[in-house]
Amino acid sequence: MEFFDVVKNRGSYRGEFLPEAVRDEDLERILDAGIRAPSGYNLQTTSFIAVKDARLRAEIAGILSTPATRTAPVILVVLSAFDDSHEGLSFEMVDYGAATENIMLAITALGYAGVWMDGMVRLDGAREKLTALLSIPEGKTIRTIIPLGRPAKEVKQREKKPFAQRVQIL
Ligand SMILES: Cc1cc2nc3c(=O)[nH]c(=O)nc-3n(C[C@H](O)[C@H](O)[C@H](O)COP(=O)(O)O)c2cc1C
Repeated sequence: MEFFDVVKNRGSYRGEFLPEAVRDEDLERILDAGIRAPSGYNLQTTSFIAVKDARLRAEIAGILSTPATRTAPVILVVLSAFDDSHEGLSFEMVDYGAATENIMLAITALGYAGVWMDGMVRLDGAREKLTALLSIPEGKTIRTIIPLGRPAKEVKQREKKPFAQRVQIL
């Protein structure tokens, strides 16, 4: 898919997925897109877990129960690490955002769909439960999970405010 079509076709997909696996080579390309994102001072504070295991996926869906988490053949977990070793500046949140958007675009480019679940990870103790389930080491924080697969329904990007309302060209 052409780059600007990928940008336009990306949409948060919260519906059910088809019972079709994500090809290993596609999963690798999606994760590689995340790894290649820019990061402040190139500290590369973002890391990733791809959960394919059915038992673990079911446990994650038990913590965050949505049609997408219940049916996704893969659930990606994006983690960040605090690092302010360069002049006391931490870029972990921005790094994680850049990496996650690269992943969302790669998912779209390969004909899959998913949703960036950051808010839901922060509610009702979900992050703590996921951290325990996945034995996340001290110093790393789960920022989002992304259920991913072939969408059973149409993927639509939500409407954006008008260009002129958000952009100034001086
Ligand atoms: C930082 C961030 C957190 C988000 N958290 C959630 C979430 O917890 N659950 C969810 O369903 N969608 C979540 N989303 C997806 C947004 O709701 C979605 O991007 C927005 O509504 C615009 O729709 P679009 O992605 O189709 O353009 C999140 C997106 C971002 C960037």
